[in-house]
Amino acid sequence: MELKNKYILLTGSKGLLGNAIMRELKKKNKIISIDKYNIQTHKNVDHFICDLEFRKDRNIVSQKIKKKYKKIDILINCAGVVSDFFNENVTDIDKQNPKIWDKFMETNLTSIFDLICKFKRNLERSHNPSIINISSIYATSYPDWEMYKNTKVQSILSYSVSKGGLLNLTKWLATYLAPKIRVNAISPGGIKRKQPKIFIKKYIKKTPMKRMCRTDDVVNCIKFLSSYESSYITGQNIIVDGGFTLA
Ligand SMILES: NC(=O)c1ccc[n+]([C@@H]2O[C@H](COP(=O)([O-])OP(=O)(O)OC[C@H]3O[C@@H](n4cnc5c(N)ncnc54)[C@H](O)[C@@H]3O)[C@@H](O)[C@H]2O)c1
Repeated sequence: MELKNKYILLTGSKGLLGNAIMRELKKKNKIISIDKYNIQTHKNVDHFICDLEFRKDRNIVSQKIKKKYKKIDILINCAGVVSDFFNENVTDIDKQNPKIWDKFMETNLTSIFDLICKFKRNLERSHNPSIINISSIYATSYPDWEMYKNTKVQSILSYSVSKGGLLNLTKWLATYLAPKIRVNAISPGGIKRKQPKIFIKKYIKKTPMKRMCRTDDVVNCIKFLSSYESSYITGQNIIVDGGFTLA
């Protein structure tokens, strides 16, 4: 399952998961990277700064990229506002105001629709184009509040709704863009980072595979969905959560 000489448009490359995807795929491919923030320079990576929350910024960055690159083989939509973006506790339903709601929808859902529309022609120039949307287990499952008790870890309604919408978008576009472009989603479980020990302990207890998700678990799945080996797979949501959502 070797992936080489591909032009890969990746969003969210500054983040925990995006950075791991970039580091692995840049070895043998060209990465066209987008993030709100600048990143360290890497060989084989062409980085563009863009705040994907804003349509105007998306228009500008897509024009710049299209001027430079005619063909795109793989589009990985990994950028996202995540629940721990907020310092104050906005899991509280009284604090989930329309501004927060709009931020999640525009960044995690609308911008992905917009990017797919903007780069459709470029993807059509590839032999095996593939779009991979990074969703979440909270697109289809609901928080076990016991796990969050006495911690500052958040689980925000608008995050779940944006990621659920992303699965609908994935399926709808998979039928619409077939047979040329495949569209799939990956829903990772909680990736281990700096969560409180008590949260990690409870999370692992609930997970049949007895550990949290690693970035490599998701990267391997991305490699598969980008490759010819998955050329008959479209419109799917691959849940990479060690069985967490089965419990
Ligand atoms: N970490 C997890 O446990 C987990 C679990 C399931 C799904 N996910 C999903 O994986 C993806 C990556 O998450 P992560 O853990 O690496 O988070 P992260 O916060 O480390 O990275 C997110 C990246 O997206 C970028 N970003 C956010 N808003 C942006 C905007 N408006 N414009 C441009 N870039 C923007 C950030 O700058 C950052 O580089 C997200 O879509 C997230 O929802 C993460």
